Parts: sequence; structure tokens; C-alpha cells
Amino acid sequence: MRSKLLILDDDDVVLALLSRVFEHDEMELFTVTDGREALRIVAEERPNAAIFDLNLTGESGIDVLQEAKGVDPALAIIIATGSRAMRSAIDAMRFGAYDYLTKPFNLAALRETVRKAVECNLMTRAVRFTDRRESLQEGGGDEDVMIGSSPEMLEVWKMVGRVAGSDAAVLIQGESGTGKELLARAIYNYSRRRNRPFLAVNCAAIPDTLLESELFGHEKGAFTDAHARRIGKFEQCNGGTIFLDEIAEMSLLSQGKLLRVLENQEFERVGGRETIKVDVRVISATNRSLVQAVKEKTFRLDLFYRLRVVNFFLPPLRERTEDIPLLAELFVTRSARQHGKPIRGIAPKALKLLQEYPWEGNVREMKNVINSAVLLCKGDLLLPEDLGPLLPGCGEVRRHHVIGGGDDFAQFFLSFLGPEFDAVCRKKNGTVYESVGRGLEVALARLAMERTGNNQVMAARLLGISRNTLRDRLGGAGSTGRSGR
Ligand SMILES: Nc1ncnc2c1ncn2[C@@H]1O[C@H](COP(=O)(O)OP(=O)(O)OP(=O)(O)O)[C@@H](O)[C@H]1O
Ligand SMILES: [Mg+2]
Repeated sequence: MRSKLLILDDDDVVLALLSRVFEHDEMELFTVTDGREALRIVAEERPNAAIFDLNLTGESGIDVLQEAKGVDPALAIIIATGSRAMRSAIDAMRFGAYDYLTKPFNLAALRETVRKAVECNLMTRAVRFTDRRESLQEGGGDEDVMIGSSPEMLEVWKMVGRVAGSDAAVLIQGESGTGKELLARAIYNYSRRRNRPFLAVNCAAIPDTLLESELFGHEKGAFTDAHARRIGKFEQCNGGTIFLDEIAEMSLLSQGKLLRVLENQEFERVGGRETIKVDVRVISATNRSLVQAVKEKTFRLDLFYRLRVVNFFLPPLRERTEDIPLLAELFVTRSARQHGKPIRGIAPKALKLLQEYPWEGNVREMKNVINSAVLLCKGDLLLPEDLGPLLPGCGEVRRHHVIGGGDDFAQFFLSFLGPEFDAVCRKKNGTVYESVGRGLEVALARLAMERTGNNQVMAARLLGISRNTLRDRLGGAGSTGRSGR
């Protein structure tokens, strides 16, 4: 599903510029010049994110923001301002703006902020639990489903119900890909704070020095780049819930501040003296053992206790294989629909392969594998042949399928890239095409050199490229070979 972005600005030139910036980003755009129209779009189209100009003719972007938040509390609104209006921009944060940016825009920063705002909006999508096949027919696109019928998962859901009425801090532990984020959203959706803000911070994605200011904000002049006061996430989601993902990566300094928020609901902005009171519920998650981190003295014991007042553990998929048939069915249905393939299910032998596989990347890995298998599948049922090549270790099927794959290179690469694609996207966001393409070119160049006994002329001819290109792709690595002249 394409995400939707609403842009409100009374200046046509700005609208035209922003339309050009976002038209390639697979976004559905709505551009409007007045507040009433913007509110109509919010109600009817439910955009994921919005950019509102602060100073509109005859009205203030902040008033529109407040009304829009009344219509859809989850809408992530970015306020755009001339730098002189900075003070009001900061007010906007208190009224629930996602962020603010100054004009003239730094386009790279703008795109990044919009991307994060959309992500933040998607985090508030509802999560529904089910342990039954019949209810897999999903409702609207606004809802995610968390499925499982193993005793472990049923226990998890009971516990979500038990803590729904409390504001206690929640810690979710589990290997990567076990569904921690999905569960965090579910806990929020079922809590009494579900109509209040929900913000997520990935503690591993932000450098140490910036994390403190991201969470707690800073005063003007607190450090070299602090040109103006910044409101941090804790202040911004006052009354709501904050999701601290990958909490084990948090620095000891930020841990100290977080402890104080949990104990006394107060903190100071970086470089500030004013004590700020907040009421925020903390849900945190980690795929590393916090007990181990405490032992290694990289994590505070007192904070550990404060965070895990309610403690969830999501077991690895290989320890709850009862969940595999239901998950497989969900992912096959979803991905067949997404790719417009007439696949009606999964053959018993193929399901057995899935149940026997160790799934180190847990549910995420299985979802990716099924997605690739659906793309590869030629019939209307997923067969062992469709899955084998995607499951390292299922050797026989792999060799037959891939090496015998002839000249269907797309299929060949799908089987390798498919299961890794999520990880690649995370690491190379924005340069996936270039990075993977470059890797392939380098690999081809090296193989061709090997095949031709390091003869550059023959290798270039074999590949159908110039010698200069070949040399470039070999970089330092292959240039020591014979010149081939
Ligand atoms: N029980 C489940 N039912 C349906 N989908 C699931 C379930 N568990 C996980 N998923 C899906 O698997 C993927 C990974 O889940 P999620 O991002 O919540 O994992 P995580 O534990 O946060 O991983 P990481 O530690 O790597 O961040 C998501 O696409 C999620 O929707
Ligand atoms: Mg996660």
C-alpha cells in the first residue's frame, strides 16, 4: 500500500517544489492551499503524514494542526517555518507536531523526516490477535494481525489483556524477528493510552551523543549545533507512550536520565536547568540479553528492574513450531494478494520443510522466504521446489533448482537476495540499487578474471564490457593479474 502525504502551504511555488521532491517516492500526494481543505483530506483520505506551513494567509498552521489532531490523533504532522517563527514551531511540538523544519528546506533532511513520520504513523496501526485460521481474512489495511496458536503465544496475549488497564513499564525480550515491535504496538493499542501519542525511538539507530537530545531535548547553545531549543520525544509524547527499541544499546548517561524519568517523571533538557515534568509510559524492547549487559556493566541494574515491571518474552520460532502453519498461511495469502498471484495454499511437504527449518531470523525470515517463494512459484500451490532454494541447508533441492536454473537470472537472484533483502534495505537504505548492483559487477569481474586465467582482455570480452570498466570493477583486487596484451 502506498503511503499518503498531505502538504498544506499557501505558496504555489512551494507546493510545486515539494510535489517534485516526493513524486518519485511512491507516495500519494495531496497538495492544498487552505486549512479547511486540508482538514477535509485528513478526514476522508487518512494520510500517514502531513507538512503544514506555519504562517498561512489568514490562519495559523498550529490551529490547523490542533484541529487535524482532533480528527486523526495518529497523523504525523511536520511544521514548516521560516526561522524567525522558531518559537511557535516549538509550541507546535507541544501541540503534538511530529517535528518542525525551517525554510528554505534542506531537501535530504525533509525526505528523511517525512520517511520517519510515515514510519511513526504506521507504528500506531492497530494490531489484532488471533489463533484461528478462519479469521485470517484481514479487515482494512489499517490493521495488522499477530497470529499464533502455541501455548506460549496464547500466554502472551492473556498477559496483554492483564496489563491493559495499567501504566506499568513493559520490557519485551526476544531474538530478532520474533515480533517484539508488533507486540509493543499491540500493548499500546490495548492500553488506556491508545488515544494519546505513541512514539518510537530506536536507540541503536541514533549515535550516543544525539540520543540524549533526541529523547530529552536540548536548550539553544547546549552544544555546537544546537542553534535553537529542541523538544525531545519524552516531552513530545507527554500523556502517551514511548517505545524504546533496542534499549540495550543506550549509553550509561542516557540510562541515568531515563531512570529518573521512571522514578520521578522528571528530567532536564540537555544544557537546561528547568525541570520538566512528564507522564509517559515506557515500553522497551531488546534482542540482546539485558542480564548479560548488566553483568558486563554496560546496563544499569536499577534501570533494568524499573523497565521490566511487566516482562514479556517472545520465544524463538523454532521453539513454537505449532505457530508455523498459521503464520505460513497468513504470509502466503498476503503475499499472493500483493503480487497478484493465484496461489491458494501450501503443499503438506512444503509445510513440513518450514516446520523443520531452524529459522534463526525467526518470523521475519520466514515471512521473507515465503514472499520470495510466492514470487518464484509457477503453479497455484507452494511446493518444496519453491522453498528449497531459499532455505540454506536443504541442499539437494537447492542445487537442482538454482544451478540448473539456466538463464532465468531474475529467478536465480531472487532466491539469493529474497531472504536477505530486508537486512540489505535496512543497511543500505537509499542506495540499495547502487550497492547491490555494484556488488554484482565486482563479483562478475572477479569470476571472469578467474575463468580467463587473469587475462583482462579476454575477461572484458567474455563479459562484454570495456577493459577500463573491468579494471574499475576489479578495483585494487584484480589489477595485479596479467595485462593480457
Ligand atoms: N505472531 C506474528 N504474527 C504475524 N506476523 C508476525 C508475528 N511475529 C512477527 N511477525 C512479523 O515478522 C516481522 C518481524 O517482526 P518485528 O519487527 O515485530 O520483530 P522484532 O522482534 O521487533 O525484530 P528485531 O529485533 O529485529 O527488531 C514483521 O513483519 C512482523 O509483522
Ligand atoms: Mg524490532
